[in-house]
Amino acid sequence: MAAEARSASAPRVVLGVGGGIAAYKACELLRRLTESGHDVTVVPTASALRFVGAPTWEALSGHPVTAEVWESVSEVPHVRLGQQADLVVVAPATADLLARAAHGLADDLLTNTLLTARCPVLFAPAMHTEMWQHPATRENVATLRRRGAVVLDPAVGRLTGADSGPGRLPEPGEIFEAALCLLNRSLLRRGSAAPDLAGLRVLITAGGTREPLDPVRYLGNRSSGLQGYALARAAVARGAEVTLIAANVALPDPAGVKLLRAGTALELRDEVRAAAADADVVVMSAAVADFRPADYAEAKIKKTDDSSAPELTLVQNPHILRELGHERLRAGQTVVGFAAETGDAEHSALELGRRKLADYGVDLLVVNEVGVDKVFGRPETEAVILDAAGSEAPVPPGPKSALAEEVWDRVAAWRARG
Ligand code: CTP
Repeated sequence: MAAEARSASAPRVVLGVGGGIAAYKACELLRRLTESGHDVTVVPTASALRFVGAPTWEALSGHPVTAEVWESVSEVPHVRLGQQADLVVVAPATADLLARAAHGLADDLLTNTLLTARCPVLFAPAMHTEMWQHPATRENVATLRRRGAVVLDPAVGRLTGADSGPGRLPEPGEIFEAALCLLNRSLLRRGSAAPDLAGLRVLITAGGTREPLDPVRYLGNRSSGLQGYALARAAVARGAEVTLIAANVALPDPAGVKLLRAGTALELRDEVRAAAADADVVVMSAAVADFRPADYAEAKIKKTDDSSAPELTLVQNPHILRELGHERLRAGQTVVGFAAETGDAEHSALELGRRKLADYGVDLLVVNEVGVDKVFGRPETEAVILDAAGSEAPVPPGPKSALAEEVWDRVAAWRARG
């Protein structure tokens, strides 16, 4: 049983479940939380229990479940659960639940818990598009965000009926990732992990561009998109409004981001320049092809009988980062680049990185040392973050999520320097 994996020091999570059809997806979220060693107490609303019954939540969490404040009163659960929690996640958060939370109502166990919690609170809303876009809901979401909660934008897609649009609950696996970002940051900082990027619009590129040669072949690179996606998840969990432009990435959509896609360097450039006009921070973590074939063959290139090979002529792609660094499409914008360096006979990777930072005119440059067995497609990475004022911050080997947090720490510090 899931509860057996729990240890006395397991982080305590309250999973609030609102009364929406997506309540069944919270079972998967609960499973992921318990299986990764969290001590989860589920607090559904009365209407959530009409969608998924208490026995399901009890069996999966290993704790008794009620929506009321009138059970086990001697243990004062309406205060204790919130006070003791390391994280409260509400999924799905309905329009009604967001309204009650925004207005500080305390008419059931979940809203009492929300009022007593001093830990990070994550809401994953799900509702019909009209309800999400209604001014009442917009204002309630803005109120909750202003007070320090992280409210994910819902995913866009199929809703309960035949209709589709914004309002879908993000995939449980991605709500789980967002919850882990919040929780880990808060535990590292002993509870004080305010969403310090709230109000910032950030644009992140991820993956690697592909430059087509003919209908079946392309020139590409090994970038998986893991680092860019980790940056997007971390930024969402720190309250930023995130646009993620993915180039050929086969990873699940991070919760709460606006996801755009691009295939080639030129397509990526168009998307980046359009979105960067509104962005406070741009992080170019995509591996952009420096060259593309001069000509695209409309039909598949065939081999010939004389065993000769076609000659490829390449032309250089625009350098998106250098353009952003020098043009600054928005006043006060912070521009962050990545430099994948191997070093060469005369220069270390870091020296080449320093040179690039100046050449590209960027504020921060994350220098990764690469090779076929380093960084690309692997969950671990190490880097040095350089800034234009001359400082360098080494980031020890660790998961890409840890480098992502370091990058945002550096961005926040850079913007706060006045
Ligand atoms: N980049 C870009 N446009 C390009 C190439 C790269 O915006 N046409 C960005 C990448 O997103 C990354 C940074 O530039 O943030 C550095 O990429 P790197 O892999 O170091 O390649 P280059 O800058 O092209 O350097 P080199 O000349 O060493 O290949």
